Amino acid sequence: MAHGPLLRKITDYANRADPYPIYAELRKTPVVHEEDGPYIVSTYWEIHALLHDPRISSDARNLDPRAAGEPDDAETEAEEDDPGLPPAFLKLDPPEHDRLRRLAMTPFGPPHTPRRIHAMRGELSRIVDELIDGFRDRDGIDLVDDFSYPFPVTVICRLLGVPREDEPRFHTWADTLAASLDPDPEQDAAERRRVTQQARIELGRYLSELIEERRRSPGDDMLSALVAGHGPEGGMSHTELLSTAALLLVAGHETTVNLITNGMLALLRNPDVLARLRAKPHLAVPLVEELLRYDPPVQLLPQRTPLSDIDIAGVTIPKGASVWLVLASGNRDPQRFLDPDRFDPQRRDNQHLGFGSGIHSCFGAPLARLEAQLALTALAKRLDNPRLREDPPPYRRNAVLRGPRHLPITLDGLR
Ligand code: HEM
Repeated sequence: MAHGPLLRKITDYANRADPYPIYAELRKTPVVHEEDGPYIVSTYWEIHALLHDPRISSDARNLDPRAAGEPDDAETEAEEDDPGLPPAFLKLDPPEHDRLRRLAMTPFGPPHTPRRIHAMRGELSRIVDELIDGFRDRDGIDLVDDFSYPFPVTVICRLLGVPREDEPRFHTWADTLAASLDPDPEQDAAERRRVTQQARIELGRYLSELIEERRRSPGDDMLSALVAGHGPEGGMSHTELLSTAALLLVAGHETTVNLITNGMLALLRNPDVLARLRAKPHLAVPLVEELLRYDPPVQLLPQRTPLSDIDIAGVTIPKGASVWLVLASGNRDPQRFLDPDRFDPQRRDNQHLGFGSGIHSCFGAPLARLEAQLALTALAKRLDNPRLREDPPPYRRNAVLRGPRHLPITLDGLR
């Protein structure tokens, strides 16, 4: 599939450390369509409008196969999803999306379980402190491997009731599924489909056994609650349980790690803010919102399609076309944010797109926010004289779930 120069710039790994100048270029034309590529939407109000437009679908089965860049006889993504796990509610439209999201929300948050996340605060702080205690005799760490990855993974395992010792098994599956979101045209599509499918099958098999176990002996975890769950609409079917559990597991693995790492990177580049956070821990709340605007872990949503033609910003996006919503670019739109390239941890009026918006807006946001607030406050307080060893650090390949692969930091010890 031929792609235009702008799209290639977004996916080009050489631009991973700083994609923001490309987004500024993109915003000169709010909706860009190059050759046979997707419609790329980069301005705040246009992205916001589309995220709230009922004519926009998240279901890949509505995508015209040619718009997806597939040869006519290729498997569609829906067929590809079948053997392992069917699409989770992230990739479904109403009414199915709403029913499954409601069922998943029941054991997770308001109005049914408003205190689950709040009640985890003490435990989250304990996990953070234990990880930082492990740096005691070290003069250097890799924040990603030593902290930003193990912390949210431990948390999502506890929340769902997945045994932590199984983590190495599903680490690879979660990585593969996250990589499958990366629309890198340089990669071999057929090989990638094969590897992704294999990961879905193996993760499906693993979760299937776990669900059966929770059915036999339930605990107080979220998976047990999902398995037992009933509402006026009934519970989830076995395959719905599987795909929901997989979604939560992967979402809990691959996003918060980047928020914490991007956060520490911003703090180390702005030592005055690091010092302020150390003195005033309550700064963590607006600081994390600013991070979600300034350097969001989910840079773009590459999987939307109109159910009928949509006119926006002087362009008609045809039914079935592939639409990319570049959240990270909307977050830097000067039409919406004052001085958008400035990192301002006390910014007011900060309705960023870091968690998306509309019916699919992030389900895990209360958990992700709390994790990042506790992590960054503790790191600011306890690391003595932390310095970056490399700037910019080495990044992951993924252009969608973007973040450093390593963040090497030198320390003088712990406070
Ligand atoms: C900093 C961390 C996180 C970020 C930046 C993030 C970002 C996002 C974004 C942008 C969306 C919207 C996707 C779309 O519109 O297509 C989303 C959806 C979602 N997120 Fe998160 N997320 C984070 C953490 C989490 C965690 C920890 C969980 C699980 C507990 C989670 C679960 C979900 C789910 C289930 C959806 C789908 C919601 C729906 O389709 O209704 N996320 N997230």
